[in-house]
Amino acid sequence: MSENKNIVVLISGSGSNLQAIIDACNDGKVAGSITGVLSNKADVFGLERAKTAGIDAQVLSHKEFDSREQYDQALIAKIDAWQPDLVVLAGFMRILTPEFVQHYKGRLLNIHPSLLPKYQGLNTHQRALDAGDEEHGVSVHFVTEELDGGPVILQAKIPVFAGDTAADLQARVHEQEHRIYPLVVDWFCTDRLTMREDCATLDDKVLPANGYASE
Ligand code: GAR
Repeated sequence: MSENKNIVVLISGSGSNLQAIIDACNDGKVAGSITGVLSNKADVFGLERAKTAGIDAQVLSHKEFDSREQYDQALIAKIDAWQPDLVVLAGFMRILTPEFVQHYKGRLLNIHPSLLPKYQGLNTHQRALDAGDEEHGVSVHFVTEELDGGPVILQAKIPVFAGDTAADLQARVHEQEHRIYPLVVDWFCTDRLTMREDCATLDDKVLPANGYASE
């Protein structure tokens, strides 16, 4: 039986996805509550959002560590103090070590601004424009050791119009992100969503490569 889940959210920036999840928790649309927010950067707006919502918000700067391994071990210690059932990457712009990913395997979600497997990595909006794509979008996926390569759970598509800039696409993608991320978090919190043998399953059905309800 599902209970109210503890969620920890990792951010590096504005935290608009964090805000969407905070709002969904407060509206009873997510069967969980955010116990902690951690940023690798100080002075980002996402930390203000967390504090305004009364959520414990902390900074762990990667600049204070000599190696990625040391940083990720310190990150694990901070996160585990909040006893998370689920760790949500919401614009957390760090490459994670295999040790970190293993530690949270099956309970680590990411949102990536492209229709994966297209455009793993950075500058996704510009790359979609440069390729002349007529559609673009966003993917929520479980995190595995392959960067932006874990099983996709849900995607949302947006049209690309003539004359669009990367900023136009980013704004259009953001709107979709705020719709789909809370939904996926709720699927996890209600025990509908699991990762089994590197596949995402919803209600015990293995999801297709592009996630739920893909064409
Ligand atoms: C989001 O667009 C998210 O998809 C992206 O960072 C942005 C964070 O916005 N994530 C990545 O690029 C991860 N590779 P936010 O801070 O307003 O939620």
